[in-house]
Amino acid sequence: MCGIIGYVGKKSASPILLEGLRRLEYRGYDSAGVAVLDQAKLVVRKKLGKIDEGIARLLKAEPVTGQLGIAHTRWATHGVPSDKNSHPHFDQSQKIAVVHNGVIENYDALKQKLARAGHTFKSDTDTEVLAHLIGDCYEKRRGKPGANGDALTQAVCDALREVIGTYGLAVICADYPNLIVGARRGSPLIIGIGKDEHFVASDANAIVAHTKKVVYLNDYDVATITPDRFDVLNLGTDTATVQISQLEFSQEDAARGKHAHFMLKEIFEQPQTVLNALRGRLDFEGATAKFGGLNMTSAELRGIDRIVIAASGTSWHAALVGEYLIEEFAQLPVEVEFAHEFCYRNCPLEKNTVLLVLSQSGETADTLAALREAKRRGHRALAIVNVVGSTIARESDGGIYMHAGPEIGVASTKAFVSTLAVLSLLAVHLGRMRNLPAKRALEFLRALEALPKQIEAILAQNNSLKKIAKKYAQADDFFFLGRGYTFPIALEGALKLKEISYIHAEGYSAAEMKHGPIALIDSKTPTVFLVPQDAMYDKTMANLAMIRARQGPIIALATEGDKQIKKVANDVIYLPKTLEPLYPILASVPLQLFAYHIAMARGCDVDKPRNLAKSVTVQ
Ligand code: M6R
Repeated sequence: MCGIIGYVGKKSASPILLEGLRRLEYRGYDSAGVAVLDQAKLVVRKKLGKIDEGIARLLKAEPVTGQLGIAHTRWATHGVPSDKNSHPHFDQSQKIAVVHNGVIENYDALKQKLARAGHTFKSDTDTEVLAHLIGDCYEKRRGKPGANGDALTQAVCDALREVIGTYGLAVICADYPNLIVGARRGSPLIIGIGKDEHFVASDANAIVAHTKKVVYLNDYDVATITPDRFDVLNLGTDTATVQISQLEFSQEDAARGKHAHFMLKEIFEQPQTVLNALRGRLDFEGATAKFGGLNMTSAELRGIDRIVIAASGTSWHAALVGEYLIEEFAQLPVEVEFAHEFCYRNCPLEKNTVLLVLSQSGETADTLAALREAKRRGHRALAIVNVVGSTIARESDGGIYMHAGPEIGVASTKAFVSTLAVLSLLAVHLGRMRNLPAKRALEFLRALEALPKQIEAILAQNNSLKKIAKKYAQADDFFFLGRGYTFPIALEGALKLKEISYIHAEGYSAAEMKHGPIALIDSKTPTVFLVPQDAMYDKTMANLAMIRARQGPIIALATEGDKQIKKVANDVIYLPKTLEPLYPILASVPLQLFAYHIAMARGCDVDKPRNLAKSVTVQ
């Protein structure tokens, strides 16, 4: 949801900014722009469209030089995608440039106030209003530096005190050839520390090629950044804690490698990412799973009476699987909430209720708000997160990392499966504190250990999956049906298809279908049926027969060795045999490939699907 990057140092800023934008493009790709300070003058280039077709071409045709600059890739909130609404935006004097990720909620009131004072605006964005506000404050501060340093930093602080909303932002000014001011509230911002150079960025991907030393800013932090130093103050407390962290991934981890798309690369990484999620956590001796970061004693974990899981999108689907797992293994009541609903509906939380949030990015605004709401109400809030050092990871009381590595494809794949692996471990961990017999736990741990090889076997079916996908690629509507553990996977399979191929797809309970939606079935509406050999097999087969009786084409996901299914389905994708609670992990992989190949057959840009952004940092 918008990516920003800034550079100050001794090198030419433009190539660093452009490369950074490419690495941030998954956060938004409606338009992009850069502003570079060239001999005391701010030079701006901005362009509608994706980076390679837009800003990269423009910079080639009209290069910019200078060693200080900021850049932005946009996911539109206020104002349509267009050249004029692209960032950077300028103040009234055209001396100050701003890039911003977030939403200024009171921008209309601020705009009217500034307009009354003679300001004129060129775009429809909230960010331009912020730029004008900073410029207005700067005029008042200019020539009168106070106790706290330069007039630009002070102007940014003054302006932000008037702002309601969220921001990760970077500001430069023609009067300060060596200075970037960065600030965050609600939208992530990090400082990258180099030798005689510094960076600011929305996330570490943008700068990992240059440095592995970073500082994660906290809400209300304002940073003053020059080539040889940075200082951080906090608008709330006036002092700030600065902790330097080391990035644990490399530039190669965040690169596409030999794969045509990040999504494909990430699907194929799953044998490894599941292994990473399990590594060091399988305790065969104790017949349980172990974790380092939950920050709760066994007695405290044993004392939990209820878990509420809050998440958004794909992570919400993982939460539904988590509910089944934890209730089955630990007999602990679990309730799954959309993060945004949890925040605003005054959901009762009993004394020993713990909130668990799930998030790949660790930055999703709705999920972060849920975490903060639970903490505000005095409840412990745990998190399962992928991005190390993300806001959710830092603000939770304890948690478990997925260790899936950078996920760049907008459609979440490997992080979803890693979340399921971690939830499986958590279910055993909690179960073994209650009544889960060691024998059953051991059997489950062994099945978990076998997953990476089984995923490899599924990936080996890629070519046949591609053929099946091609056959159905022109359908206008799809159903995805499953029961029990595979019901949430039906929802997830439909979401994957929707987001990257733009085909209307409904995920539904195979059993619930007969209560209404079956009216939509006809010979042109294929159904992807999840029918592994589990406790529900006979019942699911009966549901399948109902679709078949109405001439609906059926693509079945079934267990290896199931001969029956061949007789009733048009196409079959086989899954290796596993325990019932682990079919969600295995079934997810072919559905990801299915969606990928359909999207490819329809000529869609799978890594940058229309209207979407990787991490949604606005509510
Ligand atoms: O980073 P998060 O897991 O918190 O993201 C939540 C959703 O925005 C995300 O899963 C979204 O639904 C993806 N586009 C799904 O592929």
